[in-house]
Amino acid sequence: MRVIIKKDYKEISQEASRIIKNLVNKKSDTTLGLATGSTPLELYKELVRLNKDKEISFCNVKTFNLDEYYGINSSHPQSYRYYMKTNLFDHIDINQNNTFIPKGDLNVKEVAQYCQLYEKTIIEAGGIDLQILGIGGDGHIAFNEPGSSFKSRTRLVALDKQTIQDNSRFFTDIKEVPRFAISMGIGTILEAKEILFLATGKNKAEIVAKALEGPITSIVPASILQLHPKITILIDHQAASCLKRYSHYQFIQEAEQEIGTPLF
Ligand code: GLP
Repeated sequence: MRVIIKKDYKEISQEASRIIKNLVNKKSDTTLGLATGSTPLELYKELVRLNKDKEISFCNVKTFNLDEYYGINSSHPQSYRYYMKTNLFDHIDINQNNTFIPKGDLNVKEVAQYCQLYEKTIIEAGGIDLQILGIGGDGHIAFNEPGSSFKSRTRLVALDKQTIQDNSRFFTDIKEVPRFAISMGIGTILEAKEILFLATGKNKAEIVAKALEGPITSIVPASILQLHPKITILIDHQAASCLKRYSHYQFIQEAEQEIGTPLF
């Protein structure tokens, strides 16, 4: 694991955008895995700016989102399709036919087959080159809640009480928060060639420490990321504040700067 601790949210977002820019400039038909939530918002703003300044082009890029609420349609202001359109896709030069997000308004009987198709579409796109990931307060990645199988694939899932509570800030009433979602599985996520994990702020500090330094357990789904061979953990001082090996990570970062190549 490559752990980079930055001063604040802005610096994390800038570093993340630099990593994406370098990748897309090297491989114009990159397949990106995208996340939602408040954490990647500043990264998306930065990508919009870079695209306007012609420092990056998304013309040949394909994207796959991790998840979508189930039970709302794509025009709902809290749907992840709406989030992606308003925060990124409508402001960059991407072909929106190349942006894939699970559909949240299918009949329950259609879901299993649709999820298989989603997985197949990822494979046909050559797999995900770089997956952006955040972490939920309970350690979930995408909507893989505690107890999810490490081999899980894209499927219909139920949200935990804590996630419903956490995400209620985006809805006028907690009763409006969907109870279900369609989510890439942990097995799907681990197949990404590279992962960029982002976390910021004091309220993520304890769960980040459990995920990065605790035992690998399905109770903390993000802990499985310890097994990924090419993952960059980009966190700010606050989110890093419960890490036991905080100073070790900084020491290694200095070594990385000295040698001039990423050390995973
Ligand atoms: C949602 C998403 C996750 C995201 C998490 C954290 O539950 N499904 O992909 O990582 O929220 O969100 P935030 O960045 O707002 O803390």
